[in-house]
Amino acid sequence: MDHVLQTACKIIEQADREHPADTVLRETFKRLRVFNADETRAISKAVFTYFRWHGFLEVNEPIEAQMREAFELAEQFEHDPFFLTDEDLRAKTVPDWTTTEVGGTADWFRTLQRPPNLWLRAKRGQGTLLANKLLAEQRLLPDSLVYPGTEDLFRTPEFHAGEFELQDISSQAVSLICAPQPGETWWDACAGEGGKLLHLSELMENQGLIWASDRAEWRLKHLKRRTARAKAFNYRAELWNGGAKLPTKTKFNGILVDAPCSGVGTWQRKPHARWTTGLDDVKELAGIQKQLLTNVAGSLKPGGKLIYSVCTLTKSETVEVVAEFEKQFPEFKPLAVVNPLKPGDPASPQVWLWPQHTGGNGMFIAAWQRP
Ligand SMILES: C[S@@+](CC[C@H](N)C(=O)[O-])C[C@H]1O[C@@H](n2cnc3c(N)ncnc32)[C@H](O)[C@@H]1O
Repeated sequence: MDHVLQTACKIIEQADREHPADTVLRETFKRLRVFNADETRAISKAVFTYFRWHGFLEVNEPIEAQMREAFELAEQFEHDPFFLTDEDLRAKTVPDWTTTEVGGTADWFRTLQRPPNLWLRAKRGQGTLLANKLLAEQRLLPDSLVYPGTEDLFRTPEFHAGEFELQDISSQAVSLICAPQPGETWWDACAGEGGKLLHLSELMENQGLIWASDRAEWRLKHLKRRTARAKAFNYRAELWNGGAKLPTKTKFNGILVDAPCSGVGTWQRKPHARWTTGLDDVKELAGIQKQLLTNVAGSLKPGGKLIYSVCTLTKSETVEVVAEFEKQFPEFKPLAVVNPLKPGDPASPQVWLWPQHTGGNGMFIAAWQRP
């Protein structure tokens, strides 16, 4: 067995609930520093192919044999996506609990079995220019590109010059739905490493203020590095653990709660998570999501917008969170918003983005207005 396959097998053995495959991959490459770009790509591909086809494999076989089987299935699938029945896909591409929590169509299962797109967000108005420079394809939005190449984009001069961010199309849609205006005051309550914050800041033309909070200090540190590179200055970062004690008494024009979630919408990109995420996680996260919404609601100015987004598609974390919030805060009015990826559809207070329709992550977005 060559060293690429050997490394992939080791990574598969090390990956578990506490050590997601993508983290083990990243840490392995950082620790060993012996692989060139082609080898890194080949190892990642082998690991992701294995987990994508895991439900079809004979778990008692040695990992190496399972991996070869996974490669064969992937090749057959690429050749003919209909060589497996819809029933087979439903039973083996996702865990059982999704039947009641997500449902899902055969289209979704087939999409989950394909390698994901790599999405970029160009600086506003620069989509065509960047597409030409990187040989990328503009798709769905003028500044959203799919990169089909193999270059390490983090090493390109365009990246270092802040000309683009790697950001999934569904995440781009969230900030567009927020539609913050220059000079407003917003709260990005679960800002994490700042993916949406950078976009919000750009939409606000770097004017006004965004409070960026998260409970993870290390994420806010990343956020500060990213904002410096992108030259986004109209923000203030604060730790907040999601509790009733808020980081500020400020009243906001808009609040985005991009809540922690089960990540079912990212299962095409992170196939290992299909096998480590359970119904208990979904239920626990739904509790946190409700708490976060409850705790931020009082910080909106009258007329302010509350946007809730999760990169998941479970009932518990979407419609049930919405129903609970509306029961608790009946004065908040559902706010109809346009899906920027399907501008011809009627506006709605709930937007569902499915991977088979967008070519990106699955995402659910709900919007309200405080009277
Ligand atoms: C979906 S991620 C945010 C991604 C980020 N908005 C972006 O676009 O890059 C959810 C974030 O919520 C944070 N988080 C988890 N539990 C939290 C809590 N109880 N209070 C505040 N933040 C929390 C996590 O640290 C994580 O960064």
